[in-house]
Amino acid sequence: MESTRNQLIQLLAKNNEEYISGQVLSEKLNISRSAVWKHMKELEKDGYVIEAKSKRGYRFVSYPEKISENTVQWGLQTNWLGQKVIHREVTSSTQIIAHKVAKEQKGHGTIVIADEQVSGRGRMNRNWHSKKGDGMWMSMILQPPLPPYLAPQLTLLTAVALTETIEKLTGLTPRIKWPNDILFDNEKKCAGILTELQAEQDKIQYVIIGVGLNINQQKNDWPEDVQKRATSLQIETGKQWPIREIIQYFLSSFESLYDEYMKQGFLAVKTKWESYGFKIGDWITIRQLDKTRQAVFYGLADDGALLIKNEAGDVERLYSGEIDW
Ligand code: BTN
Repeated sequence: MESTRNQLIQLLAKNNEEYISGQVLSEKLNISRSAVWKHMKELEKDGYVIEAKSKRGYRFVSYPEKISENTVQWGLQTNWLGQKVIHREVTSSTQIIAHKVAKEQKGHGTIVIADEQVSGRGRMNRNWHSKKGDGMWMSMILQPPLPPYLAPQLTLLTAVALTETIEKLTGLTPRIKWPNDILFDNEKKCAGILTELQAEQDKIQYVIIGVGLNINQQKNDWPEDVQKRATSLQIETGKQWPIREIIQYFLSSFESLYDEYMKQGFLAVKTKWESYGFKIGDWITIRQLDKTRQAVFYGLADDGALLIKNEAGDVERLYSGEIDW
């Protein structure tokens, strides 16, 4: 059931140019006229500009670009993902909030978004730069009916949804560097995925998928060492991008791929992933413990592991190990 706030937004959005009277709104939403007025005041706090004229009613003059629980949901075309949104202007890390929520109330499909993270984290305990209003900093709570060993497939699925989103909106085709980096042809990274899970031996309790996408940063927004390997959609395209629309597009894209994966398994994800895979068919260097060796990156195995062809011509699966791309 859609919230009254969302129904109100939709009614006003449909009637963009026209006024709708308080009476009509109160009848359609089954709330009092003073409740309608209170909702309007809340929407104004979120940045909606609303014109109210006596005898005529209300109309939207403009919508906010800023991110909030309401604005993310306005126009969101998903069935279950993002139906509950937790938004913070500043937080340590959306992963921390998402773990807390998942422990307390599960919440499959709940998303946590922040404008700014002060301790954004990446894989291997690295720091993830997440300045205010520059990117999509989001964690999704999922409860997939899967055994824990399949969780890495969700990272690959997320990478495909993210890549498709970037391609569709910007026209650029990024590559996915196994397992979770999204980069452009200049080999600079614009997005990363951090999958963390809580599981019993044979069952996932919940997964938190953290997604960081650099959108409107300029080069100087990062320290020098990061500038060498990071990029943003703004740097690559020369223009600013609306974060809210990107979040909404990504959520739709993720939801449909996830639903397809749950019905049909990993094959569709694997095929798409391979079409974006970075260095498929190329020689790569693999570092395991104190050994370094060369192999050809062959593609993905059916379980999402990396397939390589070693120097002797044998195909091997690789689950971990550092790769020198
Ligand atoms: C990586 O490439 O190392 C993964 C980066 C993941 C960053 C995102 S931003 C939203 C979420 N919250 C965090 O603290 N990290 C993830």
